[in-house]
Amino acid sequence: MRSFMGRDILSLKDFERNEFFHVFDVAAKMEPIARARRNVDMLAEKTLVTAFYQPSTRTRLAHEAGMHRLGGHVTGFSDAKMTRAGDFYQESIKDTVKMLEFYGDVIVMRHFQIGAPHEAAKWASIPIINGGDGWGEHPTQILTDLYTVLREKGRLDGLKWLAVGDMRMRTMHSLGYALTQFDCPITFVSPSADALFPGSPNMRMPENYKADFKQYALNFTEADHVEQAIADADVILVEPVVQPDYTKSRDERTGDVGMTPANYKITRELLTSKAKSDAILLHSLPRMDEIPTDVDITKWSRYWQEAFNGVVMRMTLLALVLGAME
Ligand code: CP
Repeated sequence: MRSFMGRDILSLKDFERNEFFHVFDVAAKMEPIARARRNVDMLAEKTLVTAFYQPSTRTRLAHEAGMHRLGGHVTGFSDAKMTRAGDFYQESIKDTVKMLEFYGDVIVMRHFQIGAPHEAAKWASIPIINGGDGWGEHPTQILTDLYTVLREKGRLDGLKWLAVGDMRMRTMHSLGYALTQFDCPITFVSPSADALFPGSPNMRMPENYKADFKQYALNFTEADHVEQAIADADVILVEPVVQPDYTKSRDERTGDVGMTPANYKITRELLTSKAKSDAILLHSLPRMDEIPTDVDITKWSRYWQEAFNGVVMRMTLLALVLGAME
């Protein structure tokens, strides 16, 4: 297995099956630290740099919390408008990371352009972690989600997945790549063009990702309505279809944004009448109305466990790429 020390975490494409299990083994060692709300000194001599060119609640703060739990330091920016990348100069990724690499030992980057963290990794002499790149990938979120499934269901192989939402979403691409390494059939439920309102974008899985998934023998199907697939699902992963534009640095809400059609919504009634009794429901959040809040207190919901595991997974990845764990 390739060493994680010094490695960039950019994509789950080409992430090997044994590497997933190694990450999950290390996460199991990190979990008691987070659960006890302890701060240890494992990364006391290391600094995390956060470079966030797009808003985030969870990804940035979970990395920062993970670094604090391991005794490390944090610096960085949460709004590129306060840097030279977001003002008159429009400073390039290269020039920015050629500075940031001297301010810390690992960089987590979120960006509105696909491939921006990969560009950063070309120039940085320290590891780059992709915290979400446009409509590209979100590897640390899906590692969190798979770890959550492993903890909640005790296994990954043999579970049937249902993924609901906008398939342009970066989590969906990392999910597809991850599941190529497991015996996990998946159904993608998403709107085609004009399905939400006249002129609404095509939110089906993009052809380039489908081609990749086929090449890696992922067992996937597509459907139009959650009711067509929910009865078989062991894991239901939901993202919004009422979404901002992830190619923008910031997308403000202006006026009414519309409601989620029943096709892409997981309600308490649907779960009660159609879902397996032991299925689990994931949503990395933020949400709109695709999972109403009365689902939160049901036996299916696991999104708060997912949130806790988000810190555990970021501790794990930081410890691995900084060489504190083998
Ligand atoms: N799930 C997720 O990426 O959340 P944030 O956008 O708040 O980081």
